Amino acid sequence: MAVLDQMTSQKAIELENKYGAHNYHPLPVVLSRGEGVHVWDVEGKQYYDFLSAYSAVNQGHCHPKIVGAMVEQAKTLTLTSRAFYNDVLGKYEKFACEYFGFDKLLPMNTGAEAVETALKLCRKWAYEVKGIHENEAEIVVCENNFHGRTTTIISFSNDPVARENFGPYTKGFIKIAYDNLNALEETLKNNPNVAGFLVEPIQGEAGVYVPTQGYLAKAKALCEQYNVLFIADEVQTGIARTGKLLAVDHENVKPDVLILGKALSGGAYPVSAVLANDTVMGVIHPGNHGSTFGGNPVAAAVAVAALEVIQEEQLAHNAEQLGQLFRSEMNKYIASSELVSLVRGKGLLNAIVINDDEDSDTAWNICLALRDNGLLAKPTHGNIIRFAPPLVMTEAQLLDCVNIIVKTLKQFEA
Ligand SMILES: Cc1ncc(COP(=O)(O)O)c(C=O)c1O
Repeated sequence: MAVLDQMTSQKAIELENKYGAHNYHPLPVVLSRGEGVHVWDVEGKQYYDFLSAYSAVNQGHCHPKIVGAMVEQAKTLTLTSRAFYNDVLGKYEKFACEYFGFDKLLPMNTGAEAVETALKLCRKWAYEVKGIHENEAEIVVCENNFHGRTTTIISFSNDPVARENFGPYTKGFIKIAYDNLNALEETLKNNPNVAGFLVEPIQGEAGVYVPTQGYLAKAKALCEQYNVLFIADEVQTGIARTGKLLAVDHENVKPDVLILGKALSGGAYPVSAVLANDTVMGVIHPGNHGSTFGGNPVAAAVAVAALEVIQEEQLAHNAEQLGQLFRSEMNKYIASSELVSLVRGKGLLNAIVINDDEDSDTAWNICLALRDNGLLAKPTHGNIIRFAPPLVMTEAQLLDCVNIIVKTLKQFEA
């Protein structure tokens, strides 16, 4: 594209500002290339990527196996719609069902679509299997959740910016405190119309809140007791990010409905999915749900490659090891820091909390300085910075990154 050939960072930002809707507030850096744990801006400066496109690029940028699978399939057959069968989807569905231990998979494209799919599935199961009266099903969700941006999903968000002036909102959701088993038990006990409990095993967008050990297992047991579907949104936490294949694996929990997205494609292509066993997925019949692009041959080929890379390169193990190293190195610095109060997380999904107000701009300014020092991260709130590098990082690279982070934070100490 000749028009982009002489692009400078300033020009790219001006173009997005003028012609793009202002629905994001990106850090001012314009990326033009990525490989493994690194990205480069249009002026050629190299950075460590410490966001991984919100955990979509777990397998590293432009992983040759994933890109290879995508290009090969793109040259052969890209889209048939589900009006016809294609020769890749079934293979992918079998592979993914065996990989995650479920009977069936429903393919979609984005995380939000997969969450919507799970909500629809849960409601239909409630009416057709559990026996709740039509239109009376309720789904329990958690405060400070993030599940995406559709009208229904923002209906049960408590982020005022995500909700304001987008009403009227979808009914049928009960919001309870996260990491609070009493709240869950009371709600299930008092509401026989509850069909499902939708939960992030770690709340990523909220600021990487890791629930108390045992919360997920006990929540699952409560769901079983009250015949309620346990729906795990692993769009951000899944696919090795937290040091296990799924974050629920840390507590040996098997969700009734599993929602995946992001790294299901290694960041190469939008691929999402909902997995469940036949007793649940069996309520879905032709015409109930679908997507023109969901389950297309490129998506299917990319997802198989992305999942194979996770196993072949033992990325869950690497995330676990490097995550422990990261937190212990950060804690050495935090012990004598006035600026940073704590680091928390699991595997390579971590955040630091800055001693400042939620709506301060300290975290943003630190991210600007990190950028100048060669590392890209983004605040989740005014005082929280998420650190989530690609899982293909080496120990030496991680220690280099810790040096950059500590050096940068020291610039902000009083
Ligand atoms: C837990 C969770 N669910 C759903 C989504 C929505 O995914 P998408 O942006 O692909 O719609 C996200 C995105 O950050 C997420 O973190």
